[in-house]
Amino acid sequence: MNITFYGQNSLSIEIGGQHIIVDPFITGNDLSKDKVDIMSLKADYILLTHAHQDHILDAEAIAKNTGATIVSNYEIANHYEEKGFDVHPMNHGGSWDFEFGKVKYVNAIHTSSFPDGSYGGQPGGFVIEGEHKTIYIAGDTALTMDMKLIPMSATLDLAILPIGDNFTMGIDDAIIASNFVECDKILGVHYDTFGYIEIDHDEAKRKFYEAGKDLMLLDIGESISL
Ligand code: NI
Ligand code: MN
Repeated sequence: MNITFYGQNSLSIEIGGQHIIVDPFITGNDLSKDKVDIMSLKADYILLTHAHQDHILDAEAIAKNTGATIVSNYEIANHYEEKGFDVHPMNHGGSWDFEFGKVKYVNAIHTSSFPDGSYGGQPGGFVIEGEHKTIYIAGDTALTMDMKLIPMSATLDLAILPIGDNFTMGIDDAIIASNFVECDKILGVHYDTFGYIEIDHDEAKRKFYEAGKDLMLLDIGESISL
């Protein structure tokens, strides 16, 4: 499994030759718009955690360009199906075996309106299993006791957690979240994109290190392999 970071919660995940784009927000992100050409991104699937602009902005352009199937909650899937896109609707607690592996849509504590204010269902995260690796993408969320459910059915190799605070968990709660999901290897996301969520990278890494955990903060376009 290969994971590339494109800023905010935007990721590309390659599993067994299939490409999954998560929460594409690139053309509207000053940190990534000049570094990533969305038309060069490969996508068989686009996974959307919720309907906020900083998670869906480039989904339509990438889906049009690639023919990718959009996977999200029922309301978001319906929204894109009405626009003519291929979709796969899910809802909380449900799993599905895709070509690349298994995806479970799990709880998140956040909101999920579309940019025009219309209803975007309830927000979620994803647990993805493929190539004998399992990752948790929390999406935008507060720290929640529901995270304790995840290790009851999955042994995580990586937890992708928001750490920017204000709109989501901050660093201290993300450390607790990593305890809840029983994973000490964390990829931090959802920071630095706007003034509200700027963080001190050294302090963030130090706090995780002191808690016995490894926080990775990737540059835009940087990849890790599991
Ligand atoms: Ni959000
Ligand atoms: Mn967000």
